[in-house]
Amino acid sequence: MAIRKIRQAGDEILKKKSREVETIDDRLQILIDDMIETMHEYNGVGLAAVQVGILKRVFVIDLYDDKGPIVFINPVIIKTKGEHEVEEGCLSFPNQFAKVKRPEEVVAEYTDRTGKRMRVKAKDLLAQAICHENDHLNGEVFMDKIIPGTLEYIEPEETK
Ligand code: NI
Repeated sequence: MAIRKIRQAGDEILKKKSREVETIDDRLQILIDDMIETMHEYNGVGLAAVQVGILKRVFVIDLYDDKGPIVFINPVIIKTKGEHEVEEGCLSFPNQFAKVKRPEEVVAEYTDRTGKRMRVKAKDLLAQAICHENDHLNGEVFMDKIIPGTLEYIEPEETK
């Protein structure tokens, strides 16, 4: 496993649309392991393959609960319900947080890393994370849809 370099705001690759995964091979499993390790290293809730420079329709999410990391391959959001304003950040935009509108609930289908097609009904933070990461696969970033006037820069401070 290895920590990969996260592409940062301004990198043109973040605007590109990712391609469907056709085969779940060893190379993809290594990418997934590296993405999980990279997400954990930077305390992220989600990471899309494009953020490590790979234009494949894959993302990982970890809410740091008992479910552990969830791997989404070729995800499709098939239903959304409700809308609310939520605070959001992104590992490609360090220290920047803003409010965005997201559905309260989503139903998504995806292939897991063993090749099984799965369906999840998600709400709250999981629904938000699925929408955020799915946007990355379409070349969209949260900064494009923030509610004006809500952007904040929060610099981490050294503990004394
Ligand atoms: Ni992001």
